[in-house]
Amino acid sequence: MSDPKAPGFMTRAIHLGYNPADNDWALTPPLHLTSTFAFEDADHGAAIFAGERAGHAYSRISNPTLDLLEQRCASLEGAEAGLALASGMGAITAVLWTLVSPGDEIVIDKTLYGCTFAFMRHGLGRFGIRVTHVDMMDLDAVAAAISDKTRVVYFETPANPNMRLIDIAAVARVAKAKGAKVVVDNTYATPVLTRPIEHGADIVVHSATKYMGGHGDLIGGIAVGSRADIAEVRLVGMKDMTGAVMAPFNAMLVLRGLKTLKLRVERHCANALAVARMLEAHPAVEVVHYPGLESFAQHELAARQMPGFGGMIAFELAGGAAAGRAMMNRLALIQRAVSLGDAETLIQHPASMTHSTYTPEERAAYGISEGLIRLSVGLEDVEDIIADLDRALGGSVTALAA
Ligand SMILES: Cc1ncc(COP(=O)(O)O)c(C=O)c1O
Repeated sequence: MSDPKAPGFMTRAIHLGYNPADNDWALTPPLHLTSTFAFEDADHGAAIFAGERAGHAYSRISNPTLDLLEQRCASLEGAEAGLALASGMGAITAVLWTLVSPGDEIVIDKTLYGCTFAFMRHGLGRFGIRVTHVDMMDLDAVAAAISDKTRVVYFETPANPNMRLIDIAAVARVAKAKGAKVVVDNTYATPVLTRPIEHGADIVVHSATKYMGGHGDLIGGIAVGSRADIAEVRLVGMKDMTGAVMAPFNAMLVLRGLKTLKLRVERHCANALAVARMLEAHPAVEVVHYPGLESFAQHELAARQMPGFGGMIAFELAGGAAAGRAMMNRLALIQRAVSLGDAETLIQHPASMTHSTYTPEERAAYGISEGLIRLSVGLEDVEDIIADLDRALGGSVTALAA
């Protein structure tokens, strides 16, 4: 339970861990552009390396600018500790290289972001780690898939790109009863809409490239969890196994992004709901996957687990992949680009872009249809986003009729 007397989300995102009095009254925290740190004497350096004194030795291990970002992310996610990494993939790989050894097993949901899927399937598999896909909406299947060798149960909610939701508390109960750690990719929901640790997850990872940074000008990753887990990921997964450290300049940009995260996510949610309703009513659109729609198969879980439904939508046109790609080409305001969570509305075709790491057979098996279009609804005036889509879809209707 969160402490009712603790400062609120926005206050912590703006102030936590920084006092201007400590830095010549500079309102914004300093940027520590340094690779290494001087020691007062040899004993000081040795004590820092031995973990007997607090302090910094080298920026691949820790840095004060990253330290502030890590504290704020941990607090916003309701975790004890955080770690900033070079990218979302840096965060995911550093966490998994820390938790698994040859002979171990990982259980994953049906649908994952394309590069996470590739790492699990083609990366870890080469090192004797078995990865099993299950439909995590089916708790009996989750329980059956976990063996005494399973170290990690891993999923995204909502999942990229098809918006599947996973009941975090229910899956965590099953996984923990069998001794596996639960790792959740919370990139889509952000800590504004879901805090998986509060539902029983052990480690939460993010692509900070997306909503946390929020402005499409950086690549970054975050992992949060218990002090012990994060210390291990820092010293094994990040320092030694991947070296995937975030640059201090990027940490400063993410700190800036966090200050407006809640405001932006609220606007993303409002815009996305309006766009989803418009798409659902359009005759050229076959299906819309958005947790805020009453027609969404898991709407009840969404309403229980998320106070808002996020900025991501997946949809398919009646004319399939060809119609979808043609519609994308008619857009004028909405940008054809991968990534998500930016101020700009972005559209992409997962089967030929972000999820081209799956074979067509794998996409069919794991719930990513060839015609699916992914829309990251931005912060523009929603009437303009809707007008652009409407124009592009109108062309699609004409083309289908022709
Ligand atoms: C859900 C999700 N997780 C992880 C990643 C990887 O993050 P990055 O591109 O910062 O490495 C992405 C990137 O698109 C993503 O969408």
